[in-house]
Amino acid sequence: MPLSENFFDSRAQLDQALAQEVQELIRESISKRGGAVLAVSGGSTPTNLYSVLSKADLDWSKVTIVLVDERWVAADHADSNEKLVREKLLINNAAAASFIGLKTSVGDAFEEQDQVERNLAKLPGLLTVVLLGMGEDGHTASFFPGTEQLSQALDMDSGKRCQAILPKEAPHPRMTLTLPRLLSSRHVFLHITGDKKREVYQKAMEKGEIENLPVRAILHQDAVPVDVYWAP
Ligand code: 6PG
Repeated sequence: MPLSENFFDSRAQLDQALAQEVQELIRESISKRGGAVLAVSGGSTPTNLYSVLSKADLDWSKVTIVLVDERWVAADHADSNEKLVREKLLINNAAAASFIGLKTSVGDAFEEQDQVERNLAKLPGLLTVVLLGMGEDGHTASFFPGTEQLSQALDMDSGKRCQAILPKEAPHPRMTLTLPRLLSSRHVFLHITGDKKREVYQKAMEKGEIENLPVRAILHQDAVPVDVYWAP
């Protein structure tokens, strides 16, 4: 599948361009299919992008927003991706969108996998747009290198939509959409900033072990086109 690289001079320019592109894909999906599903990541990189996107002139009532992954903390915890999305994306015009979070009210992520599977079952077969970030260790979503659950999360034949993950370095257990769930989509965007991440990205573009740089599972696949957006 084609991979396109979009390098910008500034993060503000990147955010405007990416928000525009995502907006157009959502609009097209609403007009062709009556709705759209947008899967979004947490972390610090997309904050301004979400603010820009929240003002898009779209029929947001026809849009479902779902998380790519979640830190297994309460929805009002500072590290919660749901909190980030509620505060930065589900505002302005986008307040009319539906939201499906990954965190349940119960304690343990591993015990909740079946419940989260059921919550995700209402999503259509293909996600319209998936917005991914990347860590400097080459993780994307919660596909952290060196974790015991990584191979299950990346297993294209698992038939699973989500996987609980216990990262070795990063805080909090996680729940992540699996690789087959993320690649059942129409468009994937990888949104990265800074020189270090660009180096990691260039390394990941070279062939090598997916387990070392799990973002390779997104960059080297035939299922869905990937657009890389980078700014310093
Ligand atoms: C998360 C993510 C994760 C994120 C990267 C980049 O919850 O941590 O969804 O995959 O996209 O860790 O995070 P930063 O933008 O903070 O560098």
